[in-house]
Amino acid sequence: MMTGGKTKLHLEVLREMRSRAVLGGGQKRIDQQHARGKLTARERLGLLLDEGSFQEFGALSTHDLSAFGLDQQRFPGDGIVTGFGKVNGRRVAVFAQDFTVMGGSFSEVQSQKISRIQDLALQAGIPVIGLNDSGGARIQEGVRSLAAYGEVFVRNVMASGVIPQISVILGPCAGGAVYSPALTDFVIMAGESYMFLTGPEVIKAVTGEQVTAQDLGGSEVHIGRSGVAHLAADTEVEGLAMTKLLLSYLPQNNNEEPPHVTPEDPVNRMDEALNTLIPDGENTPYDIRDAIEAIFDQDSFFEIQAAYAANAVIGFARLDGYSIGVVANQPAFMSGALNIDASDKIARFIRVCDAFNVPIVTFVDCPGFLPGTGQEYDGIIRHGAKIIYAYCEATVPKISIVTRKAMGGAYVAMGSKQMRNDITFAWPSAQIAVMGAGAAVNVLFREEIKKAADPAAREKELLEEYREKFFNPYRAADVGQIDEVIEPRETRPRLIRALEVLRTKVQQNPPKKHGLCPV
Ligand code: HXC
Repeated sequence: MMTGGKTKLHLEVLREMRSRAVLGGGQKRIDQQHARGKLTARERLGLLLDEGSFQEFGALSTHDLSAFGLDQQRFPGDGIVTGFGKVNGRRVAVFAQDFTVMGGSFSEVQSQKISRIQDLALQAGIPVIGLNDSGGARIQEGVRSLAAYGEVFVRNVMASGVIPQISVILGPCAGGAVYSPALTDFVIMAGESYMFLTGPEVIKAVTGEQVTAQDLGGSEVHIGRSGVAHLAADTEVEGLAMTKLLLSYLPQNNNEEPPHVTPEDPVNRMDEALNTLIPDGENTPYDIRDAIEAIFDQDSFFEIQAAYAANAVIGFARLDGYSIGVVANQPAFMSGALNIDASDKIARFIRVCDAFNVPIVTFVDCPGFLPGTGQEYDGIIRHGAKIIYAYCEATVPKISIVTRKAMGGAYVAMGSKQMRNDITFAWPSAQIAVMGAGAAVNVLFREEIKKAADPAAREKELLEEYREKFFNPYRAADVGQIDEVIEPRETRPRLIRALEVLRTKVQQNPPKKHGLCPV
């Protein structure tokens, strides 16, 4: 066969265009990106994906617009790298915004490229991971770039609950750029990234407030205060490693189970320290994470949103190699009381687990919903209802363990049997009652105490009687609300065996267009 000069020329043209595409906005811009301590879109993909697994799509696409000098700013790829690859051998769809091209600003071509991989990922049933680094809608494109966001948002929503969607924020994420991440399942912020709808300049002009980009939308804000982000990492490298770890707990799509890891931790391992974890003092705090670490497979607990609503703990862990969603009250913070933020945190996580076939294990030690005008005015009723809604709706295996207080609403809301909880265990330290002893005795016996010859002695007597009656798990076990009272050290083997039974659980909700979760 003859290899003519024309073929050689074709190949040279392609190779030349490809090497230009690899340079994004050019070497000078790449150097600037590096000088800011940031990696380029391709370097990030190189860290995320298994070596040699990346197949790119649309490397050469450009816009054909000319307004405001756009004709002088045509870069192959148009500020985004998209395609497919593998993470630990599992297929994923990826896109990475390229800040070296017009600040990663979001264009019609970017939208077409992201939409294309979103469509293919949904059809193939594989997760989408987006690496965000963008100044928002490309201003020169006007309404085209605004409409372009809509294309991505609608695909985010259609894919929601079908394939995992993870957003990693690695630079600015401004304006419309924030909403695609906000529609995805997990937002991970790394390095000097920030997210805001309107930036410091606009805020200054409109409200007169002065704030830096970091103080407005840095990871501390979104991890600790707004709850917009679920995980944060100091460096890009750590953020991308975190993304891989997160994926390892999730299935490829809602028709699959999460991957099973060969367990190294023995099923029957019992940690004696668990038997003395609950302090003698009724209100003495302890860290529920100590229980979680001791019960689940060694080093498998991966906490999510640790700094947000620390009165609740959520995260993934493994039991006998199987992925589990862990939900817990945290007695070490606000006595584990449920407030608005904790309700939102727990409810959303339950729904993620349920969507992706991850069984849920709940640890209950909660004095109830947090009292106060602030909470009531801000809608604790509406927010607390989300927990109830999410538990009732979830059809994955659900097991709860009452470690100490399960008072009132907390007992019902945190996975009671009537809310389709499959199995409930209690530790001997469990206290299951409508309310705490002091409040109950005050409501029931206020008059009697007042009239008693020795009010203080009578009150003490009544408190003791109440505690004796309700501050143990046996009454609840008698009426079938607790399936088994277990020694804390037995929790691991009991959970593993219970989940083994529930692995084939089938439960369906009535057909409907969609429920009306009190969002
Ligand atoms: C076009 C943009 C751009 C944008 C940045 N650039 N953002 N070009 N459209 N949205 C360009 C800059 O002009 C600059 O080009 C290059 O990218 C790098 O930007 P710098 O400003 O030099 O970088 P830095 O100092 O790091 O600041 C980054 C930034 C800032 C904070 C993101 O650029 C910025 O404030 N951009 C605008 C952010 C914004 O308001 N976006 C909202 C758009 S409205 P040159 O060639 O000069 O180096 C929106 C609404 C959609 O998105 C709503 C949908 C629901």
